[in-house]
Amino acid sequence: MSQDFLPINGTDYVELYVGNAKQSALYYQYAFGYELIAYAGPETGIKDRASYVLKQGKIRLVLTSPIFPEGPIAEHIQKHGDGVKVLALWVEDAEKSWYETTSRGAASAIEPHIISDKFGEAKVASIHTYGDTIHTFVERKNYSGIFLPGYQPRKSHYTPEPIGLMYIDHCVGNVELGEMNRWVDFYETVMGFKLLITFDDEDISTEYSALMSKVVSNGNGFIKFPINEPAAGKKKSQIEEYLDFYRGPGVQHMAIATDDIIHTVTELRKRGVEFLEVPQSYYVDLLDRVGKIDEDLQPLKDLNILVDRDEEGYLLQIFTKPVQDRPTLFFEIIQRKGAKSFGKGNFKALFEAIEREQELRGNL
Ligand code: FE2
Repeated sequence: MSQDFLPINGTDYVELYVGNAKQSALYYQYAFGYELIAYAGPETGIKDRASYVLKQGKIRLVLTSPIFPEGPIAEHIQKHGDGVKVLALWVEDAEKSWYETTSRGAASAIEPHIISDKFGEAKVASIHTYGDTIHTFVERKNYSGIFLPGYQPRKSHYTPEPIGLMYIDHCVGNVELGEMNRWVDFYETVMGFKLLITFDDEDISTEYSALMSKVVSNGNGFIKFPINEPAAGKKKSQIEEYLDFYRGPGVQHMAIATDDIIHTVTELRKRGVEFLEVPQSYYVDLLDRVGKIDEDLQPLKDLNILVDRDEEGYLLQIFTKPVQDRPTLFFEIIQRKGAKSFGKGNFKALFEAIEREQELRGNL
């Protein structure tokens, strides 16, 4: 068996460029139960930006805004709106990760370098992936500070209870028509990932919307990246709508794992997070479709949580509406009970729900 040339310990952090990081940080604390742990900005010697680091379970979100209208962060926001800039990967050797991937054809975004403060040093390096998104390799074995050098601990006096978000299960990219296989090839060749699953438009087309999707995963399976491209339908596919409004490829959704989806979604709804709704008819023959499940049907129905089964078990999932005014990034909440798949049985019901939203936006 060939050696994994890019061992990855897990997701290190996800950084979003947003129009107003101070307010976004409060939204993710208040609505999603994240805790503010660190900050970098003018008060800490970083003159051109403000970054808030939020944590829940193993998840770290970094929310960054520019202080001035010039520069790459402002340009990113001008073009894409709020969105994911960095999918950071935790590695043992950032320089080797950068070397192995760039020597296989990845475009370098930031060359390997050391950042340090009194808590030690971290090594980081970045490569480009789809659109303006980058992967940053983070080597932190010689660092003991709160997040990364340059950040200072920061607490909020307002700390809502966490809601059971544990880790990032998968992170989905939308790319242009005809580009999916190129990016699957990128993850296979450049990053050593393996193709896990393919969905074609037979699996997931509705009357209007269709997409093709392939899921790639790294050696230990901790990182899963589904890649979507639009497929021809009668009207505009949800992926095309995303590409139009994001002005190009980017992260469509992050799926976050919980081990008590009923509790998590009850809390999210209470705090004002909006979800896609499937019709109540979805639940009429649900148990015939998925068989016996541990949960009572009524709370799933009340909360609009979806269920799907594969050969290995079942999963429960639900999708938020976009979390900014552009119909771009959204979140999935997922609880796996043995199933390793992605909820294929729910695609039709979900896509019809998305199409109702697209129709309301006038984009169908
Ligand atoms: Fe997903």
